[in-house]
Amino acid sequence: MKILHISAECYPVAKVGGLADVVGALPKYQNSSKIVAQVVMPFYNNNFTKNNEFSSVFDAEMLFDDVIYTYKILKLKNNKLGFELFFVDIPKLLFTDYVYSNDDTNRFLAFQIATLNWVLTLKQKPTIVHCHDHHTGLVPFMMSQSYVYHKLSMIPTVFTIHNAQYQGWFSHDKVGLVPAFNFNNVGLLDWGGSINPLAAAIKCAWRVTTVSPSYMEELKISANGLESLLSHESAKCIGILNGIDWEVWNPETDAYLIKNYKKTTVQSGRKENKKWLCNQFNLDIEKPLFAFIGRLVGEKGADLFPDVFKKSLQKTTKTILLLGSGMQSVEYQLNELKKDYIGSYNAFIGYDEKLSHIIYAGADFLLMPSRVEPCGLNQLYALRYGTIPIVRSIGGLKDTVIDISKENGFGICHNEVTVEEITNAVDRGVELYKDQTKFKQLRKQMMEIDHSWNASATSYIKLYRTLNL
Ligand code: ADP
Ligand code: GLC
Repeated sequence: MKILHISAECYPVAKVGGLADVVGALPKYQNSSKIVAQVVMPFYNNNFTKNNEFSSVFDAEMLFDDVIYTYKILKLKNNKLGFELFFVDIPKLLFTDYVYSNDDTNRFLAFQIATLNWVLTLKQKPTIVHCHDHHTGLVPFMMSQSYVYHKLSMIPTVFTIHNAQYQGWFSHDKVGLVPAFNFNNVGLLDWGGSINPLAAAIKCAWRVTTVSPSYMEELKISANGLESLLSHESAKCIGILNGIDWEVWNPETDAYLIKNYKKTTVQSGRKENKKWLCNQFNLDIEKPLFAFIGRLVGEKGADLFPDVFKKSLQKTTKTILLLGSGMQSVEYQLNELKKDYIGSYNAFIGYDEKLSHIIYAGADFLLMPSRVEPCGLNQLYALRYGTIPIVRSIGGLKDTVIDISKENGFGICHNEVTVEEITNAVDRGVELYKDQTKFKQLRKQMMEIDHSWNASATSYIKLYRTLNL
């Protein structure tokens, strides 16, 4: 079986969020003696592409939006990633130092077309084409509807929704950019009067998955306008919980950490990481450290952070550290707050992979008060590193974190995303921290939970096998 994953992001090449982590790990766990899993993604102008070598495996040109683009398919040389990695190199469109921008409609449509043009020429075609998020949402439509790709129409497509908030909408004025298809079926592209790649994928893919069972259920009630479509298509939809890359996210070997540790050395190991964080960010090491890592957007509850932090920091029982970027007004407020709480609060506004790893290894609690969380990987990294998650029970957070008040519980859960509920949850953390025996026992308990990809990678393979293979 040959599986071709198509994605805009893939760790360690280009990462904006969890999509990259998933696409950089799932294929590795799918590869086996009987399965070849590959990834194809855009060739961006970034450190990874600057520092690696590639061979050209396909060379062509295409007429797109009245312009002739030359493009190549490149393959990563000296690849140690655990799966074959291909790139669509359309210099004039994709070779940018960012992943997403304002002209994503054209960029990702051209990416999808170039990918399928290449797949058409392959002697050994993929057995499954697995697309991720709206940037690749028109692939199932093109494969099933376009005359250009009719030779690919019998290849089953699987589409994974990592986040239904983003749908890639564009106007019908641009429909001419989609390779020729029977116009009677244009409705397959449409949702609510515009072309909606996410909706088109839900309609046209052979199977639709999302990244946790709870999110799948939630989507049928609220999916940024697609709820009725998801309810209608529910027979082909399934939620499969994400895993984490057990090799990359391993406190015993993680090269980013100040000190590595395992379950038996967790207290001393984590202390060194916390010490480094507290020195670096001028925080009191004696107090419990609450951290947040992520995109500063409404979905993550980030707009409430300025008020939550002010309220929480009135009591001097804790320290708070934030790593993230996003809404400018929130970034500004979070920076301003630093002056008022010197020694108990700090923030790094930006993206820093190394720092994120040290925070997972050094903070005592990780905050995730998400309004929407399809899966969430941060809480899974926190568990592996022995950091207690404080989460709003929704989506994947609901499927992976059990409150300490329940049997075998290890985290702190709340139901609403309000300043009050979040600060109360933080206060529960402070109380828990006072009981060091229980706190330390929970750390060890969490580190034993196996969220590696093994189980979920198998669930995907089982799903592929249902497609008459
Ligand atoms: P999402 O994909 O919705 O942003 P996830 O929890 O699935 O959320 O994944 C987020 C990933 O991005 C994690 O690997 C997290 O550590 C990482 N991340 C998010 N923001 C930052 C940041 N500012 N610096 C470093 N890593 C970050
Ligand atoms: C999305 C979701 C996040 C999920 C990630 C990987 O970015 O917001 O919850 O973990 O995709 O599937």
